[in-house]
Amino acid sequence: MSIIESALNKANKVEHDSNVHLNTQSELKVNSDNPRLIYNNSDCKINSIIDQQTNKEIVEIDFTRLTSLGFVDPNDSNTQAIEEYRNIKRPIVNNAFGKGSVGINRANLILITSSLPGEGKTFTAINLALSIANERDKKVLLIDADVARPSISKVLGIEPRLGLIEYLDNEGILFSDILVDTNIAGLRIVPAGKTHKHSTELLSSNKMALLVEELSSRYPDRIIIFDSPPLLAATQGEILAKLVGQIVLVVEAEKTLQSMVMESVNKLSTCDVVLAVFNKSKGNTGGAFYGYGYGYGYGYGNYAN
Ligand SMILES: Nc1ncnc2c1ncn2[C@@H]1O[C@H](COP(=O)(O)OP(=O)(O)OP(=O)(O)O)[C@@H](O)[C@H]1O
Ligand SMILES: [Mg+2]
Repeated sequence: MSIIESALNKANKVEHDSNVHLNTQSELKVNSDNPRLIYNNSDCKINSIIDQQTNKEIVEIDFTRLTSLGFVDPNDSNTQAIEEYRNIKRPIVNNAFGKGSVGINRANLILITSSLPGEGKTFTAINLALSIANERDKKVLLIDADVARPSISKVLGIEPRLGLIEYLDNEGILFSDILVDTNIAGLRIVPAGKTHKHSTELLSSNKMALLVEELSSRYPDRIIIFDSPPLLAATQGEILAKLVGQIVLVVEAEKTLQSMVMESVNKLSTCDVVLAVFNKSKGNTGGAFYGYGYGYGYGYGNYAN
């Protein structure tokens, strides 16, 4: 049995500890009864419920709050944002599952990156995940691999808990321990976990390589989205780029220099597919609209877009 299969099996057996220990310290603390949960600080809002049938914890994402922050509303199928993310996800999903997937190694593993901080990687990663998970037959795993400056959990309102770093750093922590179920049936999250001084080494480790290989080969029906650090500010983005089959390079419109984009593209040459998304471009609605969309694409091999 693979590490992921056994982890998922264990996850199904994990009984949620209804006496989750809350302490008032801000430092992270592993709950030994339920190793999936760590720390708890005093002002942390618990926003999860226990599924009575499966006895599993389900984190409730507050869509009203997300929508107010500019994210797509998965319950609304007709907004301009939803339509634009449809356009963004179509080639990605087609490359992963459709005819386009032929010959792309690990086509279901997608890295979201950018040249510089703040261009909209996390925004794009979450919107893409919501958009794909909203399709009835699609499953998405959203992994916060920006382990130095994680923000997926914060944006989605998930309280701090075990994540990728703890999994990579501890033999005793299983993949199931870091998987978070959400109130969208097709969406699961892997938080980044606690910051670690050797996070670069952990992301380059055999354990990480084994994990991505298993995620790709054992779960080819699932889209795995990795949020990453910016390419020109840290080496971790480049390390992650070698592990995936498709890359979305987020480019902040009217801000990121073309030379920077080209420098980033050069760092991504190991990946079969690199798609560029223009983010924060002013649309035709008087400049107030923050848009997204494929402005242009870079590709390698036969998969140029
Ligand atoms: N298209 C958009 N429309 C509205 N807000 C956006 C858009 N893109 C990004 N933002 C906002 O801009 C800010 C920066 O975006 P985000 O956190 O996604 O960038 P990032 O590339 O992940 O940054 P970092 O490198 O620090 O991780 C956030 O407040 C986000 O909500
Ligand atoms: Mg980010």
